Amino acid sequence: MKEQYKIPNHVAIILDGNGRWAKERGLIRSMGHKAGSENLKKISKYIFSKGVKILSVFAFSTENFKRDKDEVDYLMNLFVKDFPKLVKKDDDLKIVFSGRRDNLRKDVLKTIDDITEKTKNRTGHILNICINFGGRADIIDATKKIYSDIQNGVINIDEIDEESFGKYLYNSMPDIDLLIRTSGEVRISNFMLYQCSYAEMYFPKVYFPDFNKDEFDKALDVYNHRDRRFGGINESKNN
Ligand code: IPE
Ligand code: IPE
Ligand code: MG
Repeated sequence: MKEQYKIPNHVAIILDGNGRWAKERGLIRSMGHKAGSENLKKISKYIFSKGVKILSVFAFSTENFKRDKDEVDYLMNLFVKDFPKLVKKDDDLKIVFSGRRDNLRKDVLKTIDDITEKTKNRTGHILNICINFGGRADIIDATKKIYSDIQNGVINIDEIDEESFGKYLYNSMPDIDLLIRTSGEVRISNFMLYQCSYAEMYFPKVYFPDFNKDEFDKALDVYNHRDRRFGGINESKNN
């Protein structure tokens, strides 16, 4: 019997290559970010239409604050202008944000808070936008919350296991099934370290602004040809 085509529950994308996309066209880096942001609107819609329940995107790392002030300012302005456009009336999309709040501008925080509030009761798909995000910071912040909950008697130390620990991470995001990083770089760059444990990874060459429907379909095909064993043995595949 033919196996059913598998749709990953949680897809994560490291949105990389905006700068190089612009450079190849003789444009300034910011134009690449603009194109990337426009693409995010289109591709996220398509990904959800395929039945993916959760999409996490890495939009700005804690380390990205090392970049020139002009580039950081451009990105922050873009977030304020473009993120609200992801919220559609009569939609079932819940949007959450993961990352540390410190160092983010007030208008960025307000944008994040408004969107979170507007979509918090929606139960369909989840778009998790990671800004000022670091995978290690996430784990450290979770550890601090756990310590405080233990001190306050909210939980007992014996209740901490891999599952309950995961719930303390930003927005309690579950394991990633398929992790995509565009632009050909083959590294995680401190993305969702805890949830990547058994993610299938895929590194297409295209820059994020060019990561279109066909590219996502290719990623799904690759995912469907992977043999996910989680440490066990898949008897049906004659391993
Ligand atoms: C990804 O594109 C967007 C952010 C990191 C904010 P880059 O800006 O890293 O683009 P490249 O990697 O320099 O091409
Ligand atoms: C990772 O991309 C962060 C985001 C895509 C937001 P970078 O371009 O910052 O990563 P490195 O510096 O190449 O590892
Ligand atoms: Mg990059």
